[in-house]
Amino acid sequence: MTATDAFTDPDALGPRIARVTTLAGDSAWLITRYDDVKAVLADLRFGRSHRDPEQAARVSSSMILGGPSGEFDSEDAERVRMRRLVGPAFSARRMAALQPRIAGIVDDLLDAMFTGTPPVDLHEAVSFPLPALVICELLGVPYADRDDFRRWSDDVGNLLDLQRSMSGLDNLWRYMRGLVEAKAAQPEDDVLSLLLTTPHEGVTMTPDEAAMLGAGLLFAGHETTVTAIDGGMVQLLTHPEQRAALRADPALIDGAVEEILRSSRKDLGELDERRQGLLRYAREDVEFAGVTIAEGDLVLLGLRTANRDGARFQQAEQFDVTRAPNPHLSFGFGPRFCLGAPLARLELRELFGALRRRPDLQLAVPVAELRPRRDLLTGGLEALPVTWMM
Ligand code: HEM
Repeated sequence: MTATDAFTDPDALGPRIARVTTLAGDSAWLITRYDDVKAVLADLRFGRSHRDPEQAARVSSSMILGGPSGEFDSEDAERVRMRRLVGPAFSARRMAALQPRIAGIVDDLLDAMFTGTPPVDLHEAVSFPLPALVICELLGVPYADRDDFRRWSDDVGNLLDLQRSMSGLDNLWRYMRGLVEAKAAQPEDDVLSLLLTTPHEGVTMTPDEAAMLGAGLLFAGHETTVTAIDGGMVQLLTHPEQRAALRADPALIDGAVEEILRSSRKDLGELDERRQGLLRYAREDVEFAGVTIAEGDLVLLGLRTANRDGARFQQAEQFDVTRAPNPHLSFGFGPRFCLGAPLARLELRELFGALRRRPDLQLAVPVAELRPRRDLLTGGLEALPVTWMM
């Protein structure tokens, strides 16, 4: 089978499946259409582990989602166990309890930003610290450690430097291990303590496991949300009519959050699925759209391209805060659907809701001058300079 390189035109949906070369220089299948991406996400013949991890094709050097993870024989059981253990951390009760705290963090960050003299860098002032503060709050990580945490988290997600990614993960893990010791001695009302004290089928987690899960949550919950905030801000700042509609009608906030999550910009490199495609390995031979995906083959799922599939979304290219329904795949789908989705939605809702009541922001530089963070798994911007009328 010959397949074309889908990256000659990232906007065209192209063939249902294409052969591409990853950042690591390995071969992968790329799937970009909405129905196909959703079907593969729901299909347990595709997983994250590999029977022979040393030989597996890699997406990148990143230690997280750069290559296979977990044990091939126990992946399914482990996924179920992990989700049962971590799920309660994002319960409706816990989210309701966090809401006023998140609203307070948002207000503090915006107060500090608006006392500055414009232009200010919104990425530094809000996009980075908000999810960091929230995840620290959820897990019970002291915010005073944020600078270390930021460096390690950036290191783990580095796509090009395996050594850096490994040492980032190691540092994050050591840090969490120390914190877990402290929580084990004196449990508090936070998720690390919950992980340590809640038994699953009669067995509680070991401190090592809790530390690994904690490090995973820090990572999963941080850069992804930073990127969503940066991306959402750029969309609102470059669509004044959508911003005005949202400012005029508070009822639009939930729809705006979903559209922020769905939307992506080609000019900021967000449609390069070789970097940002979600990884799966075929656990057995699978017939797909006329080709055989062989057991062990790497498959990249283009969530962002799927979110722009005109067969599923009318006027998919447009940013429309009134779009309904909006069944985007930004949090994945099926057995691995993002556990932190309620938290991410809450953060975005509080932030973009609060901005409605603040001075109207403008981009302080042309969009073409915004620089995407190309070496990072989750993308986002180097800086987001904004200004406002004093
Ligand atoms: C806008 C922000 C976020 C986005 C776009 C996002 C996206 C995703 C996606 C696409 C997956 C599916 C991965 C797969 O199928 O292989 C996922 C899984 C996950 N996310 Fe998120 N996420 C976000 C925020 C968060 C937050 C705030 C947390 C927690 C603090 C979190 C925790 C998780 C966890 C634990 C999983 C793993 C579920 C599993 O492996 O079964 N995420 N996320």
